[in-house]
Amino acid sequence: MTNVASVRGTVRVPGDKSISHRSLILAALSDGTSAISGLLRSADVESTAAVLTALGVRIESGGDIVTVHGRGLRGLLIPKRPLDCGNSGTTARLMSGILAAHPFDSTLTGDASLSRRPMRRATEPLEQMGAHFTFEGSDDGLPLTIHGGTLASIGWNSRTSSAQIKSAILLAALNAQVGASVTEPRRSRDHTERMLAARGVSVVVDGNSISIGAARSMPAMDTHVPGDPSSAAFFVALAALFPGRTIELPGVCVNPTRTGFLDVIQRMGARVAIDDATDAGGEPTATIRATGSDSLHAVTVGADEVPSMIDEIPMLACLAARAQGETVITGASELRVKESDRISAVVRNLQAIGVEAEELPDGMTIRGSRAPLSGNIETHGDHRLAMAFGVLGAVPGNSIDIATPDCVAVSYPAFWSDLRRVAY
Ligand code: S3P
Repeated sequence: MTNVASVRGTVRVPGDKSISHRSLILAALSDGTSAISGLLRSADVESTAAVLTALGVRIESGGDIVTVHGRGLRGLLIPKRPLDCGNSGTTARLMSGILAAHPFDSTLTGDASLSRRPMRRATEPLEQMGAHFTFEGSDDGLPLTIHGGTLASIGWNSRTSSAQIKSAILLAALNAQVGASVTEPRRSRDHTERMLAARGVSVVVDGNSISIGAARSMPAMDTHVPGDPSSAAFFVALAALFPGRTIELPGVCVNPTRTGFLDVIQRMGARVAIDDATDAGGEPTATIRATGSDSLHAVTVGADEVPSMIDEIPMLACLAARAQGETVITGASELRVKESDRISAVVRNLQAIGVEAEELPDGMTIRGSRAPLSGNIETHGDHRLAMAFGVLGAVPGNSIDIATPDCVAVSYPAFWSDLRRVAY
């Protein structure tokens, strides 16, 4: 994307990735047929659909509706071959919990990036519940064979705030028809617990702890997937970079466990309005209007805010490159185990285009400037890096080339065409 003169317009971002995975999974575990509208059609969600299909779940697609024929709790079938999770950490972690409660062996595989990402953080609590695992390749990553069976309930104190770990445990307990509780240092995104509660499972939230009761079954449910706030963040940031210009994003999920980026960008000086709030099947949804500021200023973000904006930090770092002063991000060591090491990759790429940035063990510092930025971005196949630097590349005076721009297919296949439509 070359730089443009201005931005304006409306972007209807695709369905939320986290909610899309969970909508398919919970429909597959329900009794009966569920119709899902607004499902994200992207490579990651395709991975979940393909894994469920290989486990005997019938999934049909027609127009905007995806229909899932549920098999009920513990009703998945023995797969005939390894289950390929592609690039999707959510598929691998959530399915490891579900399969741990099924009385057969199954093997999860993934692409090179996913195979490097840690799985023991999910298998450790599942082992305590009674499951067994064999790591077939490295010591901590995929391929992973799950020897599932009968599981006991658990009270787990998680060292990291991770919705994937929490969900693996809750979905294992759900299928094992036992209760479970998970405590996190800070609350991670809460879509799993919201969706379980909507399906009649007893869910109790107490501070950073969440407990579910044993369920016998779950009814099928028709649901709608709201727009993805992590995808919307790229356009909120784009507007923020153009003084006085507004971009409107209707139908976006504004669940408070996901909106940290909106708070931070307002502290930097951008204007954000959230209107027309409704409830879409247990998830608050609204229209976001973001307006650019004459001058963005640097910001400090620490461990308390990071979980609510974990996927938006590459975008924040790129914005910080245009903000006055030094931005400091800490408490974000989880970024090292995302689709790429996002601390190292973001900092190196910022340096490559002329920004003063430094790595910290758990974050980074970025010194903003108005100088034109130019150079090549190495995405490491990481969709969020491609999109964050794509937005920075739209700023007048910048000239930024993105290697492998197609990796946006993981979460937002139409990103570049949506960007071209509002940036002109
Ligand atoms: C996700 C949780 C987060 C997030 C990821 C999606 C989910 O990962 O970064 O993009 O759907 O549960 P962690 O659970 O590893 O923090």
